[in-house]
Amino acid sequence: MNDVFPKDFLWGGATAANQYEGGWNEGGRGLAKTDVTTGATAQTPRYITYQMPDGTIGKISQRGEKKPETAKFSVVDGYYYPNHVGTDFYHRYKEDIALFAQMGFKIFRMSIAWPRIFPKGIESKPNQEGLDFYHKVFDELKKYNIQPLVTISHYDDPLYIEEELGGWENPEIVNLYEKLCKVLFEEYKEDVAYWLTFNEINAAIMDRFFIKDVSDDLVKAGYIKLHNQLVASAKVVKYAHDHYPQFKMGCMIAGLVTYPLTCDPKDILATQQKVQELFYYPADVQVRGAYPNFAKKVWEKYAINSSLFEKDAETLKQGKVDFFTYSYYSTSCETTHEDVELDGGGNLSMGAKNPYLQYTEWGWSQDPDGLRYSLNDIYDRYLIPIMIVENGLGCIDEIDENNVVHDTYRIEYMKCHIESMAEAIADGVNLIGYTPWGCIDLVSASTGEMRKRYGMIYVDMDDDGLGSLNRYKKDSFHWYKKVISSNGSDLSN
Ligand code: BG6
Repeated sequence: MNDVFPKDFLWGGATAANQYEGGWNEGGRGLAKTDVTTGATAQTPRYITYQMPDGTIGKISQRGEKKPETAKFSVVDGYYYPNHVGTDFYHRYKEDIALFAQMGFKIFRMSIAWPRIFPKGIESKPNQEGLDFYHKVFDELKKYNIQPLVTISHYDDPLYIEEELGGWENPEIVNLYEKLCKVLFEEYKEDVAYWLTFNEINAAIMDRFFIKDVSDDLVKAGYIKLHNQLVASAKVVKYAHDHYPQFKMGCMIAGLVTYPLTCDPKDILATQQKVQELFYYPADVQVRGAYPNFAKKVWEKYAINSSLFEKDAETLKQGKVDFFTYSYYSTSCETTHEDVELDGGGNLSMGAKNPYLQYTEWGWSQDPDGLRYSLNDIYDRYLIPIMIVENGLGCIDEIDENNVVHDTYRIEYMKCHIESMAEAIADGVNLIGYTPWGCIDLVSASTGEMRKRYGMIYVDMDDDGLGSLNRYKKDSFHWYKKVISSNGSDLSN
C-alpha cells in the first residue's frame, strides 16, 4: 500500500475533556452534567444524582427520566463519579503530549470544557485560569509541531445551562455558545486552526434507541435541541469565516452506517429513511446550509411546526462548514421484519445484528468495509475534505508484570480500518486525517467504565477509581508509531 496517503495526511488521536481532563473542581471550573453522572457497566445504566431541599438524595437514569422539580443535581456521598478525574490530563498534559509526539502525531483532537471557561455559562467575563490552562496545552503541542483539533462542545455544557435554563431546547443558549466561541477564537487564534463546533451533533435525536416506547414529544424535543445547535454552529462558522479566514471549521456527526438486513425493498426503504432522518438531516444543514427536502416529512411525522425551523434559513445558509468529520466504530442493520431481534448495539444507535460480522464484548460490530462504504457515500454527496475523528476498539486489556499490554486485537482492528481508508482514498475520496478515539485510555462515555479501553497508552486506573494513573505504552503504541512514520504504507506488526 505505497504512497496512498497524501504527504500531509493528519495522523493523530482523539480525546474529550469530560472523559480525559479531570481537575473537575480545580482552577475555577464549574460543574457539567458529567460531574454528577455515576459510573456503570455494560449491563447497568449510568445515573445522574440529585439532592432534595430536605437533604434526601436520589438518582435518575441518564436518558428520558425527569428529576423532581425541587431537586438539584448534586455530587452526593456513596457514589463514584469517574469523570471527576478522567485520566488526569489536567495534571499530566506534558507527559501525555510528549508520548503523542513520540508516536509522531501531526494532530491531536481535544475538547475545551465550557465550564472551565464560563463556569455557569452566563458570566460576562471568562475564567482566566481556565483560559490559561488551554494556553499551556497549546504551547506544549506547538513544541512538538502537533496541530490541535478542538471540539468546542463535547458533552460537557455547564450544568447551570442544563438545569436552570432548560438546556438546548432553549434558543437563548445560542447566545451563550456564541459568547464562548468568540472568546475562544480570539484567545487561541494563533494556536488553533481546526475547529469542530459540536461533537456528534446528531446525538440530540438518538433517544429513540435508548428509551423504550419513546414519546413523540421527546423525539420532537430532540429535533428542537438539534435545530438550536445547528443555528449556533452556523452563526459561529460565519463569524469565524468573517474574522479569522485562516480557521478551518468542521462539523462532527456520529457515523450512523446502516445496511438493510435483507433485500426486501421495504428493508431498503427503512434503511434509507433511518439514515436520512438521523445522519444526513443535520449533515446537510451543516455542509449545504439548508435542511434537505426530506426534512419536511420528518417534521410532519413528529408534528413539528416547520416555521420554527424555516425562520432561520438565512442563518443556516451562511454557516457552511469547510470540512466534514464523523465518528466510525461499527455498523448496524435495519429491518421491517418484526420477528427479528434488535440486539445489535453500537455507538448511539442500535439495530439488528449482521451475521457476517464479529461483535465486541460491548456488542459493537467490527466492520472495516463499512468505513470505506461510508467514506465514499459521504464524499460523493458533499465533495469537501473528510476526517475520521473517532474510530477504535473498546475492549479489556491485560497488563503483565512488566507493564506491557500485548494488544494484537487492537492492532488488527486499526490495521483493517486504515486499509479501508486507503482503499477509499484510492476510490477518490479526499480524506485528510485520522484521529483514533481514546488514543490514551480514558473513561467510557456510555458506561463510565475504565475497563472499556481504546488507547495505545495504558493508564493504570480501574472502574472504582483505584490506580496510580501511571502511563504505559501498549504494543499498539509502537505499531502506530511505525504506521505514522511510514505515512500509512507499513501496517505490518
Ligand atoms: C463517541 C463519543 O460517541 O463514542 C465519545 O464522541 C465516546 O465521547 C466514544 O467515548 C466511544 O463510546 P464509549 O461509550 O465506548 O466511550
